[in-house]
Amino acid sequence: MPLDETRKYQTIEVAPVTPVIGAEVSGIDLGAPLSDLARDEIEAALNEHLVLFFRDQDITAQQHVAFGKRFGEVPLAPGASFGIHPDAPEVSVLEYDEARPPNVNHYHSDGIFRAVPEFASVLRAIVAPASGGDTIFVNCIAAYEALSDRMKRLLEGLTAVNNFMHLHGRPSKARSWEGEGRARMEKARDANPPVEHPVIRTHPATGKKSIYVSESFTTHIVGLSEGESRAVLNHLFDHLKTPEFQTRFRWWKNSVAFWDNRCTLHYALADYWPQHRVMNRISIRRGEKPV
Ligand SMILES: [Fe+2]
Repeated sequence: MPLDETRKYQTIEVAPVTPVIGAEVSGIDLGAPLSDLARDEIEAALNEHLVLFFRDQDITAQQHVAFGKRFGEVPLAPGASFGIHPDAPEVSVLEYDEARPPNVNHYHSDGIFRAVPEFASVLRAIVAPASGGDTIFVNCIAAYEALSDRMKRLLEGLTAVNNFMHLHGRPSKARSWEGEGRARMEKARDANPPVEHPVIRTHPATGKKSIYVSESFTTHIVGLSEGESRAVLNHLFDHLKTPEFQTRFRWWKNSVAFWDNRCTLHYALADYWPQHRVMNRISIRRGEKPV
């Protein structure tokens, strides 16, 4: 079939799921080697839609990793709160069932507690519940742009402290610390002391500003009193939950989501217990510090 010169993308079909965030991408096999053009078009679509959804990607864990490596460095799975894939040490295995109730139902950006957070994550469904277990994604650029000019000026130049233990010290995460998990969690805790990141972050590719705080990990804003910090953060956390900034993805087996952690939050619904859900996840890093 001849390529249509008027089409925005030549190697992929991109169908937005909302005007604000998310697009379904079709016409591509993520298990096959990506041409440079396909890689660049996927990145362009990611910059435009912030999270991309792919269906029916029956790929191996190694192919999942190879796809991620076209976009940056794929580090070894941390192996703290999630398992590690036996065939690919870069792949985290997120598995929930009757004995392990889902506990990632909180708004966060992967890696916000690291000094150098990951740029993106690629998650694939291995076992999806019959219904439930959707993931919500939030466009933090749209959330920033909807703030009043006075609030934008207040936040400009402020930094906030993000702490791994703010989430992982909670009772909902007690399971991670049981038995052999304790040593892995202590290692993760020691490797991730609290870090300061800008409250408003600029996207390195698009130059767009976004709100960069997470209810799960952000403890306080530096330079404000405790009460001021709590009030401002609570407002931002509420604001980021506005449905108009969100999309919600229904997983099927072999569905893939590829999202930009620099300007989105996500929330994995825990509504499917006691059903079984297994996901494979990789992180992609580019050595970018939030600015
Ligand atoms: Fe996550």
